[in-house]
Parts: sequence; structure tokens; C-alpha cells
Amino acid sequence: MIKIDLSGVLKFTGILPRSDAKAADERSAQLPMSGWMSWPREITRREIDAITEAGRTIARSSQALVVLGAGGSSLGARALTDALFRDGGVPDILFGGDNLSGEYMSRLLKKLESKDFSVVVTSKTGSTTETLATLRIFLKLLRERYGAEALSRLYVTTGAGPSALRRFAEEKGCALFDIPREIGGRYSVLTASGLLTAAAGGLDITALIDGAVREMESNAEAAWDYAAARQSLYRGGFKTELFASFEPALGSFGDWWRQLYGESEGKEGRGIFPAPLHYTGDLHSMGQYVQEGPRDLFETIVSLGEAGGDVAIPGNGEFDDGFDFLTGRSLNSVNEIALGAVKNTHISGGVPVIEIRAPKLDESSLGALMYFFERACASSAILSGVTPFEQPGVEAYKKQMFQMLKD
Ligand code: PA5
Repeated sequence: MIKIDLSGVLKFTGILPRSDAKAADERSAQLPMSGWMSWPREITRREIDAITEAGRTIARSSQALVVLGAGGSSLGARALTDALFRDGGVPDILFGGDNLSGEYMSRLLKKLESKDFSVVVTSKTGSTTETLATLRIFLKLLRERYGAEALSRLYVTTGAGPSALRRFAEEKGCALFDIPREIGGRYSVLTASGLLTAAAGGLDITALIDGAVREMESNAEAAWDYAAARQSLYRGGFKTELFASFEPALGSFGDWWRQLYGESEGKEGRGIFPAPLHYTGDLHSMGQYVQEGPRDLFETIVSLGEAGGDVAIPGNGEFDDGFDFLTGRSLNSVNEIALGAVKNTHISGGVPVIEIRAPKLDESSLGALMYFFERACASSAILSGVTPFEQPGVEAYKKQMFQMLKD
């Protein structure tokens, strides 16, 4: 289960009562598009097995998997597969469909030149420009490479509602997985949207779902406390939330978190600005700003009880580097000390710190973490007076772009 430490906040502000966040959570469950709240309990064994089997088929037949999707239809899958490397999964998982760069696409195509590959396309609406434009390129490539077998290598994950993408997949008999109607993109990681790519990467998706179910059923308080702390800080003038982990494997997790919070909360002139950082690396690029820049920052650090792989630091038999106090220590133990030091110095420098601790780097913990952040996000948005499950602002650039493309 996820643990939260708010001692690094209390020096700066009181925290809204937990009951306020609980009430927001209850309101969230009444809103349209809140299907993700009960989803981990509702996904069926049959669906998990079908996704697992499709993932195995992809892994058996492919040296690379291209995942096409944008925003919530890609960031969750990327967070999961970057976090957990599993033998037996597709060796190379490559992402596209979230940008319109010809350079990016040329490099992606080059990587596939001598590899057998499959394609997962994920789009809830089936109408995202970046995703559908790049799908055209991969449909052509699949046909050139695999002829009549091409579409057996295409896996479509899309909303249950009607769309041209869904119709195509149905008519051609492609492997087709649903994103439930009542679950929006950024809350969809625990549906086929994130699970299919995770399964192809060799991840145990049953354990992911089980972790989320446990978090949902027995640890709501932790999510409410995070929501209440964030909104208390925001009301106290702390407008930017840095989201840091000392584990590089969680780098993409920060990108997933950013979208979840940015799109759910940034509305009506309000919203905490979500900014992921990667420690300890970014202490050498942003550490100065965090320590001494404007005092409107707070920091959320995600840590791991058990960090996974580890390596001992040997003595330096070559030259006196001045670091003999490191000899024999493990890298993870030094990383843990760095975390404590960063917490202390940032708090003394005027940056409130929330620490969120997951048990370890595995599927169960990631499922729990994702559910925890989704639940806290919805409550936090409601506490700040906005509706978490819509994103009207995202349409603005699309309208302008379509107009310009048609002119
Ligand atoms: O959270 C959201 O709803 C968005 O970020 C979507 O995930 C993103 O725009 C992609 O949409 P779609 O899955 O319909 O292609």
C-alpha cells in the first residue's frame, strides 16, 4: 500500500480536513466519466486473460512493438514499460503517434528496418490527428512488409462508441480491445489502453490490477490526504508542484502524472502547475532554482521501500578520488541518503515536501501508485472547484490547426 508523509508540509501550512477530500471523492464518483474509480474491481478475468494472451502473441512474433497513441492513450503504457523491464516481453517498445515530426518518424522507421514488428494503436475517440496520421504510415509499412498477413500484426484499442477506427478494426477482423465509455484517456492506464502494451512488455497485468484493487479498497485515506495537502499548499501560494523520484525507471511515470494533473486541474484560470524532475540528475540542473528561486514551489517525492537491483561501490584502486567514505556502500543506500538530504535542505530552503512511498518497483506497487494518483487527482480538482474529467481547452489548437490545414 502507498504511504504518505506530510511532515514536510506542516511547517508551512495547516492541511484541510481529510473529510473535505473524502467528500470530494464521493462527488467525483457521481460525475460522468468516473468509471475508472471502480474499474480495477470490474475488469473481468476473461479480459485480463485476453490481453495477456495478445501480449504474448506480440512478444512471440515481434522484435519490436510500435505503440501509437497520444496523451492518456500512450503515457500510461510508457510509464509502465519504462518502469519495469521484464524478460519474455518484446525487446524494443517504441512509441509514436503523439507528435507530427518527420524527423522522429524517419528515425522510428529506421529502427524497424531489420526487425519483425507489430503495431498497437490506441485512441479512445479514434480521431486524434497525430495518432491517425502516423497509423497511415504504419498501415502502409505493414502491407509492404507482411502482405496479406499485415493486419494480423495490428492491435486496436479504442472506445466502445462508434468511430471509423473501430469500424475498420471490426470489418477487417483486427485484434480489438475496448476502452470503456465511462473512462477518459488520462484515467485509462488500467484498461486495455495501458495493459496491452504492458502485457507485450512481459509485465504481469494481473498483479498490476490486484495492486490497484488493494489500494482502492483499503487505502483511500492516503489519496485524500495527498489531495488535501496539495490544495492547502495551493491556497497558501504554492502554485507549482515538482514531482521527483530518485529512481530513473520512474522517469516516464512523472510524465504520466503531469498529464493526469495538468489536464484535470488546469481550468478556469486555476490549477497547480505540474513539473516532473528526475533526481539526482536534475539536482545538477534545477537544484539551484529549487533551493533559492521563487518560493512558490512545493515538491512531491515518490520513493520506494525496496529499490530492486543494486550494486556495491568498490574502492578506487587507481587514484585518490576523495570518496573513500563510499567504499562498500551500495548505490541504493547512497541514493536513499541523498533523498533524505534533499528533503531536509529543500524544506529548510522554503519548499514544502510531500513524500509518497510505494513498497517496491513491481507491478503491484505501480498499480497501487497509479490508482492512488488518479483518486487524489480527482479529489484535488474537485476541491479546487473544477471538473476533473473534461478537457475543453485541448480542442482550441485542433480547431485552429484543422482550419489552417484546410485553407
Ligand atoms: O486524457 C485525455 O482525454 C487526453 O489526453 C487523450 O488521452 C488524448 O487527447 C488522446 O485522445 P484519444 O485517446 O482519443 O486519441
